[in-house]
Amino acid sequence: MKKIDLAEYKIDKRKLPQHIAIIMDGNGRWAKNRNLQRIAGHREGIESVRNIVESCGEIGISYLTLYTFSEENWNRPLNEIRKIMALLANHLESELPELNKDNVKVQFIGRLHKLSGGIRRKIQKMTETTKNNTGLCLTLAISYGGRSEIIDAVRKIIRAGVKRVTEKSFKKYLYTSDIPDPDFLIRTSGEQRISNFLLYQIAYTEIFVTPVLWPDFKTPELLRAICEYQQRTRRFGRT
Ligand code: FPP
Repeated sequence: MKKIDLAEYKIDKRKLPQHIAIIMDGNGRWAKNRNLQRIAGHREGIESVRNIVESCGEIGISYLTLYTFSEENWNRPLNEIRKIMALLANHLESELPELNKDNVKVQFIGRLHKLSGGIRRKIQKMTETTKNNTGLCLTLAISYGGRSEIIDAVRKIIRAGVKRVTEKSFKKYLYTSDIPDPDFLIRTSGEQRISNFLLYQIAYTEIFVTPVLWPDFKTPELLRAICEYQQRTRRFGRT
């Protein structure tokens, strides 16, 4: 990949978002625009995943969280679910050496018990192999729902018999207990909604919606988005 020149995009290396979260949307529309099957859009979407992971690693982003498959996505036609799961299974296996070489730590959040045994084993292998890596921390949200995450946290608290809960202690029960809240949330393909993604964590996150479809979202689009992030003033409720 060509070396990224941040100055070309007027990006200040010292003010990068520490954590970027992305709702990757528009694979189906990308395929439809080309009279292709939806799965062709998901396949090209994986190219964007690879490109954005590499770019984030190279420019020094610490955390990247990708909304890969939502709990609601289980309601899609079985045929599409099967194809997405097959893609996922293949890539969890094939991308592991490269991710590991790039020092990426990969982790997974969501109701992973709903996934097949085969995918769960690949998830475990990827998590285990990359757990001591010190570069980009890549979190893939699979079978993930923000409301389920909050409910799961409450259940853990009840089970542990905890009587006093604070914002600080509550965070420890979320799937994302070990990573900071996102600074920047990007959604591709123009829809202006959150779609049940990281509901608790995005309280003060800057949101950026681009009309670009996910398979067309590559390094230049990421850099333009980060440039826009750097124009914003984050006030966290203060004046
Ligand atoms: C949204 O497009 C995309 C998905 C539901 C699946 C995203 C999954 C991938 C890109 C694969 C990721 C793989 C790895 C290894 C991380 P859509 O189908 O909702 O598009 P539409 O809104 O245009 O129909």
